[in-house]
Amino acid sequence: MLIDTYGRVATDLRVSLTDRCNLRCTYCMPEEGLQWLARPDLLTDGEIVSLVGIAVRVLGVTEVRFTGGEPLLRPGLVGIVERVAALDPRPRMSLTTNGIGLRRTATALKAAGLDRVNVSLDTLRPDVFKTLTRRDRHQDVLDGIAAAHAAGLNPVKVNSVLIPGINEDEAPDLLSWAVRHHYELRFIEQMPLDAQHGWKREGLITAGDILTSLRTRFDLTPESDEERGSAPAERWLVNGGPHRVGVIASVTRPFCAACDRTRLTADGQIRTCLFAREETDLRAALRSGAPDEEIARIWRASMWGKKAGSGLDDPSFVRPERPMSAIGG
Ligand code: GTP
Ligand code: 5AD
Ligand code: SF4
Repeated sequence: MLIDTYGRVATDLRVSLTDRCNLRCTYCMPEEGLQWLARPDLLTDGEIVSLVGIAVRVLGVTEVRFTGGEPLLRPGLVGIVERVAALDPRPRMSLTTNGIGLRRTATALKAAGLDRVNVSLDTLRPDVFKTLTRRDRHQDVLDGIAAAHAAGLNPVKVNSVLIPGINEDEAPDLLSWAVRHHYELRFIEQMPLDAQHGWKREGLITAGDILTSLRTRFDLTPESDEERGSAPAERWLVNGGPHRVGVIASVTRPFCAACDRTRLTADGQIRTCLFAREETDLRAALRSGAPDEEIARIWRASMWGKKAGSGLDDPSFVRPERPMSAIGG
C-alpha cells in the first residue's frame, strides 16, 4: 500500500510516457518547445510495464493513467497498454491526450484494453485554437474525440482551460457542444506550471467565474461529496441530468485532502504531487537490477513524505522545476 503520514492511500498512478508534444499551448510551453529528455534517460516500454506491474501487484494501485507531454507520440503506446492490460490484477486504464492522432489509434487502443480517454480542447473556434496552441489542428482534435467516442473509450472527458481575453466567453458554447455529443466537459483552472513562468493569479478565470458564466444558460445542480470521492473535478448535473459538467479548481478550491495519486515521470522519477519539488529516482534502482520488493520499498518511502497540500496558498510557495508537460498533468 502507498500510504502517507496524513493517512491518504494512493491507488491512482499517473505515468508520463514522454515530455514531448506536437502542440505549443501558450499556457504550457514556448513556441520553440523545450529541452526534451534524452532518449537514454527515458524509461523503455519494458521498464514502464515492470514499474506499473510492481505498483499494481505489490502496492495496491488500481487505476493507471497514461499522460505526456502528448502520450500518442510514444511509438510503443498500444503495446504498453496491451501489456498492462495483461497484468494480474488488471488495473483500469485511461489516457489523457490532446487528441491529435487519436482518430487513427482509438480502435487499436480500445482493442489493447484501454478503458477511456480524456482529451484537451479549449475552444470550438478554429482560429482561436490556432492562437492558443500555435498549430492549425482543430479538426484533427474534433475527429479524434469523435473517434474515441465511437470506439467505446467512454465516458470521453473533454478538458478545457479558459484564458482571459482569448476563450473566456466560450464556457456555455463548449457545454452545449459537449452535451449534444455526450462528452463530459470539465473546466480546469490555470495552474502555475507553465514552462515560461507566465502564470498570474490576477485575472485567473476561477471556478466561480466559470459557474457564473454557465448559469447564464444552464441550470446546474451540485453532485454530492460521496459521488465525488477523490476526483479532482467537482461536478454539476446539467439541466437536471443526466449530463454533467465539472470544474477542476486546483487554485481556488484545492482537493489535496482527498488526493489518491502517485506519479511516475517519463525518466522514471516518482513524484508525490503535481506541485512537489522533490522526486525519487526509481530508474536507477530498476536499472541496477533491484528486486521488486526493493523498488516497492523505495516507492512507499517516497509517498510517506508526501506533503499535506500543493502549498499554492503559502506565501513561500516555490514552483516545481519541471513544467507541467514534463510532469504529466
Ligand atoms: P478522471 O476524472 O478520472 O478522468 O481524471 P483527471 O481529471 O484527474 O484526469 P486528467 O488527466 O484529465 O486531468 C485533468 C486536470 O486535472 C489536469 O489539468 C491535471 O493536471 C489535473 N490534475 C490531475 N491530478 C491532479 C492532482 O493530483 N492535483 C491537481 N491539483 N490537479 C490534478
Ligand atoms: N494549468 C491548468 N491546466 C493545464 N493543462 C496544461 N497546462 C495547464 C496549466 N498550466 C491542461 C491541459 C490538459 C490537462 C492535462 O492539463 O490542457 O487538458
Ligand atoms: Fe501539449 Fe498539453 Fe502542453 Fe498543450 S497543454 S502544449 S497539448 S503538453
